[in-house]
This record gives sequence, structure tokens and C-alpha cells, in this order.
Amino acid sequence: DMMNDIMGLSTLQEKVREKLGIKKVLLVPGSYDSNPSLIKDVAKCGAEYFLSILKDEDVVSITGGSTMFEFSNTIKTDKKYENVTVVPARGSMGKDVEIQSNNVVATTSKKLNSHYKLLHIPDELGEESMKTLTQEPQIKNTLDMIAKTDILVFGIGIAGEMAIRRKLPIEKVEEIVEKGAIGEAFGHYFNEKGEIVCKLNTVGIHLETFKNVRESIAIFAGTRKADALIAMTNINKNMVLITDEESANRILEL
Ligand code: F6P
Repeated sequence: DMMNDIMGLSTLQEKVREKLGIKKVLLVPGSYDSNPSLIKDVAKCGAEYFLSILKDEDVVSITGGSTMFEFSNTIKTDKKYENVTVVPARGSMGKDVEIQSNNVVATTSKKLNSHYKLLHIPDELGEESMKTLTQEPQIKNTLDMIAKTDILVFGIGIAGEMAIRRKLPIEKVEEIVEKGAIGEAFGHYFNEKGEIVCKLNTVGIHLETFKNVRESIAIFAGTRKADALIAMTNINKNMVLITDEESANRILEL
């Protein structure tokens, strides 16, 4: 019955939390693998947790991707967060405008009635252009804000796939995979131990900032990403994980 299901789920949450050694795990019943529309419930669970810990005056950094796109769509509140600022955790300028962090930021901010800043800067730049651009007052202003992140909400990807989605040159994709990267989050490609294996010329949140934020909320669905998530928790234990039940079971198996 339902009560038993709920008990089972909270036991599973606790087991996964213990295995990963992180702050909190929140699960949505069911399997994303067999029911992809479950991503909406996972995103909603993430949005509810986010609203429960959000304080007015917080700086919120968020990433792009389809998971975070759903997250922004599902936020629902009557409160006005007039002193909150939402920023993209990284630059973005690709083809999939809808799921770009800038778009996710704008949607989230609208739902919160907050301020926001965008980052109109490509993900990958030459060293010289990077230096020049990051000195631009507007861009510098956003980057300074990102460095003050209180809450980071992010999606997780599979390293090779993300390198391809970002249209990195094929040599770079191969290098990332050969160096043992399995996961990717906010532009950082990491191996099983959570070590950053590839330092790209990229702009956005720094690892040190990530390690010091008050709240970091990882949202993913699908057993394919389970090992990437586990690797991620080796970078920082101060993390809340939101995922689906089957992915949680896979985490316990790995
Ligand atoms: O590109 C932004 C990003 O958040 C990546 O850091 C992450 O790996 C990916 O999107 C997740 O994408 P999706 O939610 O579509 O699987």
C-alpha cells in the first residue's frame, strides 16, 4: 500500500545518502528509464526543495540542459524574492537556445520575481579573447556575482556526450575520454575519483566556489548517469541529490 511505499522510499533515500556521504537525498517513485516523463516530477521535487531553502538576498547559480529547463518550468511560488539574484553558472551560446543556462535563468527569475544577470559569452574561447571579454564591465559584474553563489542548482551529464554536445573538436573529446572522464557538471569534466581531468578554457563558476556554497542541489534522472553522480560526490559532500527511485537503486548497486 501507499504507506509502505513511502516507508520504502525514505529507507532508500537514507541508504543512498549514507553510501554517498552527502547531506540529503530526495527521491521520486518510479523509473525514468522506462518513463522519461518522470523528469518533470524529479524537476518538481528539486524545485520544491530549492524553494524550501531559498532566502531573500541569496545569489542563485544555475546551469543549462534539459533537466534544468524542466526545473525552471516547474518552480511555483507566490512569494516575491526581490533581493535574490539568479545567474547562470556558466556562459552559454549554442544552438539549443531553449535549454541554455541564460534561458533557464530568465525563466527561474521570472517565477521568483527576482533580479537576474545573464552571461553572453561562449563556453569555449581562446585565451586572449577570454582575457579581454572577462574584463568587460557587464561580464565582469556577472562573474563577480557567480563567485558569491549561495545556492547552486545543476544538472549532470556523461562526459563524452557533453563534450560532443558542446561541439568540442574531436581531439579534445578523445582526450577527455582517454583521461578517464566519466561525468560533467558546470563545465568540469571529472573522473571516478572526482578529479578534474581536463581544464578547458572556460568561464563560469570555479571549483572553489562550488565547494563553498551554502547549498548545492544536483538533479538528474536515469540510471545511465548514476556513475557520473557518484563521481561528482567525490568532489564535494555538501550536496543534496534529487533523482528517481530506479537511479537511486542503481547507485546502491555500483
Ligand atoms: O550544459 C549544461 C549542463 O547542465 C551540463 O553541465 C550537464 O552535463 C548537462 O547540461 C545536463 O544536461 P541534461 O539535463 O540535458 O541531461
